[in-house]
Amino acid sequence: MPRTATLTVDGKTLILPIIEGTSGEAGIDVSKLRDQTGLLTYDPAYGNTGACSSKITFIDGDKGILRYRGIPIEQFDTNPNFIEVAWLLIFGRLPKPDELLRFSRKLTLNAMLHEGMKHHFEGFPVNAPPMAILSAMINTLSCFDPEMLHLGDDAEKMEDAAASLISKVRTIAAYSYRRHKGLPFVYPDPRLRYCANFMHMMFTYPYDQYILDPVIDEALNLIFILHADHEQNCSTSTVRMVGSSKANLFASVAAGVCALWGPLHGGANVEVIDQLTEIHKGGISPEEMLQQVKDKKRQLMGFGHRVYKNFDPRARMLQKVAEKVFAKTNRRDPLLDIARKLEELALKDSYFVDRKLYPNVDFYSGIIFRAIGIPLEMFTVMFSIGRLPGWIAQWKEQHDAPGGRIARPRQIYTGTPLAEYIPIDRR
Ligand code: ACO
Repeated sequence: MPRTATLTVDGKTLILPIIEGTSGEAGIDVSKLRDQTGLLTYDPAYGNTGACSSKITFIDGDKGILRYRGIPIEQFDTNPNFIEVAWLLIFGRLPKPDELLRFSRKLTLNAMLHEGMKHHFEGFPVNAPPMAILSAMINTLSCFDPEMLHLGDDAEKMEDAAASLISKVRTIAAYSYRRHKGLPFVYPDPRLRYCANFMHMMFTYPYDQYILDPVIDEALNLIFILHADHEQNCSTSTVRMVGSSKANLFASVAAGVCALWGPLHGGANVEVIDQLTEIHKGGISPEEMLQQVKDKKRQLMGFGHRVYKNFDPRARMLQKVAEKVFAKTNRRDPLLDIARKLEELALKDSYFVDRKLYPNVDFYSGIIFRAIGIPLEMFTVMFSIGRLPGWIAQWKEQHDAPGGRIARPRQIYTGTPLAEYIPIDRR
């Protein structure tokens, strides 16, 4: 017997269906509510709203569970391969060896940008934020490959578009950094694998070829995997919102980059470092900072999550990555000790305990990026590179679903009920 919910409004009783997921999640279907009652549901910030059903990622925030296509995130810890996980997310299952090879080849073939695009980078001032460049350039990509604007239901074209975006986003990211530094662009090297090629384009100089250490390569693969999808977060919902108007993949993903930029979302990885640096410079002690947080004068960045009310499994895995990276680089970052101190104090404090606030993915990622040599202004770009397969997978799932409607929330109007237009005397 399917479960239902009963709602009584103004004496009228409605039976509402309950939609059940495959892992315990359930929701009341209110899609006919307005037709039947004239009322809408009010849920600012969508804390209780399911906007879609999805087969891509499962999170149980109370238990600290994250799974990609049913696979627990912890299982990607061994020999991590970001490209394999990207394919898994987008196409629904782990790739067979020949499929992974084909996709990797497509990535290699797509690594270069059209030469014409280089001039676009030159149009940006050198101090332009790399996230602004990234978003603009993802949209620009489609101008150089208009075929990609119309993917239709062609599976091969979809794979080509995914490969093109995942490959080119790395080149765009590296070029935006080189532009920011006023350095010449470095072409991708077809012999290098995904992360090695990215680091090469970022850090190779004519007199110094950058060679990525295998330990750092593994760490980067895992970091990208840990960022790869997170169900209906702010940027992914933005991608779906834009995609719901049937906007193309590039436009939808470019919008996702903009949403991710915000300090409450992906931009938090920069804010965390700013806070830790403030303590390191002696401007404030960890205890004083936490007091300001408790007094609501500031937020503790990298803490808290809409969904995780236990721990964020990605943050735990990142702590281990941090250890490996520090062992390799032989560099002790004082910010790591400050982060640990803040975490220790916060997790003993009733403000954080009562509100179930734990470190999220952004709390430790920045410290690892620093150790690897990634500059602060690129942190959120790194997040974008990681999140891209998730955005593509979610856009594809939405696009493939039959009968998708344009996303269009409603509102409760609280303005002046009725006013009169009195023209200004412009004589
Ligand atoms: N520091 C201090 N207090 C916090 C924090 C924080 N980081 N996060 C939540 N709270 C408090 C809220 O003020 C609220 O307190 P109240 O009950 O006294 O009003 C309570 O905890 C509940 O929080 P919500 O407002 O319900 O949290 P919400 O789900 O709306 O926001 C968010 C989640 C945006 C992640 C928030 O925790 C936050 O701003 N964190 C800092 C920014 C950050 O790290 N963002 C990255 C998130 S992960 C990601 O996007 C990749």
